[in-house]
Amino acid sequence: MRIAVAGATGRMGRAVLAALRDQADLELSGALARTGDAACGQDAAVLVGGAPFGVPVSDGAEEVIAGCDVLIDFTRPEASEAYAAICARLGKGAVIGTTGFAPASLEQLRVRAREGRFVVAANMSVGVNLALHLLEVAARVLPDADIEILEAHHRHKVDAPSGTALRLGEVAATARGRRLADVAVYDRHDRRAPRVPGTIGFATLRAGEIVGEHRVYLASPTERLEIAHIADNRQVFAEGALRAARFLATRPAGLYDMQDVLGLR
Ligand SMILES: NC(=O)c1ccc[n+]([C@@H]2O[C@H](COP(=O)([O-])OP(=O)(O)OC[C@H]3O[C@@H](n4cnc5c(N)ncnc54)[C@H](OP(=O)(O)O)[C@@H]3O)[C@@H](O)[C@H]2O)c1
Repeated sequence: MRIAVAGATGRMGRAVLAALRDQADLELSGALARTGDAACGQDAAVLVGGAPFGVPVSDGAEEVIAGCDVLIDFTRPEASEAYAAICARLGKGAVIGTTGFAPASLEQLRVRAREGRFVVAANMSVGVNLALHLLEVAARVLPDADIEILEAHHRHKVDAPSGTALRLGEVAATARGRRLADVAVYDRHDRRAPRVPGTIGFATLRAGEIVGEHRVYLASPTERLEIAHIADNRQVFAEGALRAARFLATRPAGLYDMQDVLGLR
């Protein structure tokens, strides 16, 4: 299967390039960078070291996507929207790990997925997706527990709370028959009141080079359950993205997530 990598110059793009080196069944066919990036025209190995891939970094999205079976995209929402439109038009698969989409953009991806095959997941790690599954059960079995979600990431991250924290919140809210928008509390800075029962609170830390930590507290007056996940290395997301690409090889058009890829649904 031919894989193209969008955002090849980024932290995740490089992690995917590195992960592709060891795969017998997956071959790098393109490495996309932002228009005019200094790496354009050079072999993609310039981004990760090691032997040449024989594939130049390019800013020609149309051409790179036409030459792949699946695009793996960890960029920014505006870039991912443009790449998804091309993938849908050319009938290519896309594994989209970008976070920070506005609800309207996610809806547009859903519409485009009728023509293309997309896996969209705010977190590609197997452990996090298992945590989502466990949280769905815990939120139902402990209906009165207070739920709080704490996340920590590196200092460069631009969206907050993380896409994974929001997904954890959605899963917990849905398990209790609520909409996250109706129960989420993102900021307690100027509140002078006790916690409202049934709400789901979020707290965000940004520091150093933390790869990604998520911790969900389900607390009652008598006990506390914590579901925690710590990513030690970006490779975990890259490996999940490759697993999602393989999954797409046999799927009809549609919008999938990692629960589908891992058979957890
Ligand atoms: N789903 C998951 O498992 C997972 C895991 C980790 C991260 N993420 C998400 O993946 C995304 C990327 O994370 P990262 O840490 O790799 O970020 P990063 O290091 O900043 O890389 C972002 C990449 O996207 C490119 N880019 C940004 N805007 C673009 C545009 N308008 N057009 C074309 N390319 C553009 C950047 O190019 P320049 O360098 O030229 O700006 C860079 O190559 C974020 O949304 C992050 O939250 C998801």
